[in-house]
This record gives sequence, structure tokens and C-alpha cells, in this order.
Amino acid sequence: MGITKGVFVTGTDTGVGKTLVSSALVRRLVQMGCPVGVMKPVETGVLPEQLGESDAGRLMAAAGTRDGIDEVSPYRFLAPLAPLAAASAQERVIEMQEIMGRYQRLAARYSSVVVEGAGGLLVPMGKDWDMRDLIGRIGLPVVLVGRAGLGGINHALLTLDGLRQRHCAVMAVLLNETALCTTPAQQEQCESTVALLRERAGVPVLGPLPYQPQLGSDWSGAVEMLAQSSPIRELADLVWATAVGMSGSPRRGPQP
Ligand SMILES: Nc1ncnc2c1ncn2[C@@H]1O[C@H](COP(=O)(O)OP(=O)(O)OP(=O)(O)O)[C@@H](O)[C@H]1O
Ligand SMILES: [Mg+2]
Repeated sequence: MGITKGVFVTGTDTGVGKTLVSSALVRRLVQMGCPVGVMKPVETGVLPEQLGESDAGRLMAAAGTRDGIDEVSPYRFLAPLAPLAAASAQERVIEMQEIMGRYQRLAARYSSVVVEGAGGLLVPMGKDWDMRDLIGRIGLPVVLVGRAGLGGINHALLTLDGLRQRHCAVMAVLLNETALCTTPAQQEQCESTVALLRERAGVPVLGPLPYQPQLGSDWSGAVEMLAQSSPIRELADLVWATAVGMSGSPRRGPQP
């Protein structure tokens, strides 16, 4: 793939904050004047009446996109299962070619595309391919979202190792506080996770993104606030630099 503008956001696991980080990053890029396309190639557990709260719906809201939901989210499945299992439950097959076609259409229209994976790196997508194969095919640099707490070091290093095995470029690791750190021990776990990963990751380690207690009741307010946080600003600057590197300067949209 020749097109490398934007990022593929993957995670060390499901529920680690990929949608939160992607949404805040998209908000920040839009505020910087960078037109951003969004994509969630495969999403499971999506109820048609709750599209607004789906990952695709949240990414679209963050980008303020007028693209249709099927362009952003070609494969949506009802069952809250891993992609291959959810697709099989509906007797469907996920086609990489179909995802690539939609991605290329978005990439042709935007200075940057933010693509959110599903789950982690080795999630099966088809009979003989997984999420890592899609990452390699799309060719965007990867942002790895991981937990800032205990266990986060191993998961992040394993995922980085899996990406390196396939020569996937990694832009940054972004660590997220998915739970409130209240005790001194938890704070130390968080700080030492960040410090040790900074030593060992071999790529920039950003964060931790602070825990947002209001996320459950006010998702978009929390996203707006996080778009101004230093980890997201640093990440957006890295993505901006890629977009500039590709085309001289990102096509500027309206300023906030
Ligand atoms: N910084 C945070 N502060 C508070 N809650 C958080 C934070 N990050 C994540 N969460 C909680 O974890 C949930 C999962 O986050 P998110 O949807 O971004 O994860 P994900 O990696 O995109 O998951 P999936 O694999 O389902 O796509 C959020 O709905 C929220 O409840
Ligand atoms: Mg998500």
C-alpha cells in the first residue's frame, strides 16, 4: 500500500480505550484544521437502534463526518462476540478486499484517516487471516492503546513484538487509565508501568491518559476535554507530521 496518512489504532485487548483515544485524537486533529476520515472496519454487538453509541457512531460524531455509516463501518454484527464468531452467527464472511476498497475511498478524500481495530492484534477476522493481516495491508502506522495499570507492560510488549514480526510501523504507545487509581500502590503501579515501558518499548510512550469518571454519563464532553490533554496533543502532533510528510501540508479545513 502506498497510502500512509493517518493511523491504525489497535489495543492490547478489548475495552482498553481505543474508541476513547481515537475519538479524542480525531477531535484534536479536526481542531487543528486537519480533515479526518474515520473507519471502524468491523464492529460487533451493534444494535441498529443504538448506532450513536457504537464505536463507529462515536468516531463519526468526533469527526463531524457526513460519510454514510456503511462507508465508515462496512461490517456490523449483532452478537457481542469476536468478529469471526459474530460474522458466522449471521452466516456472513468478512472480506479484506471490501474493507480495503472502503479504506482507499476514504484515504483519497481526507488528509488523514483514523482506523480503529477490534479487540487486539491477533483477533481472527476470516478463515485464514486476522487483524494483524489487515493492519499490514492497510499500511498505516499503528498507535497501540494499552492499560496503564498492572499487567500493562506484558500486554504492550507482547503486542509490539507481534507488530515488529510483521514489520508494522508503530507510531506510539498510548497508556490509558481505564480504572481510577486511588491507593498509593495503584498510583505506583501506574507510574512504574509508564516508566518501564518508556525504557523498553522502543517507540514513544504517551500518557497516561487520565481516568474520566464522567465518561459513562457524558462521553462527548469527556472526549472534548481529553482532546486538550497532553497525551492526545502529542499524538495529534505525530499524526499531523505524517500527514504533512505525505502531501507537503495537510489541506486545512475550517478553524475552530
Ligand atoms: N480514561 C478512561 N476513563 C474512564 N473510563 C474509561 C477510560 N478509558 C476507558 N474507559 C472505560 O472503558 C470502556 C471501554 O473503552 P473503549 O470503548 O474506548 O475501549 P475499546 O478498546 O474501544 O473497546 P472495544 O474493543 O470494544 O472497541 C469505556 O466505555 C469506559 O467505560
Ligand atoms: Mg472500541
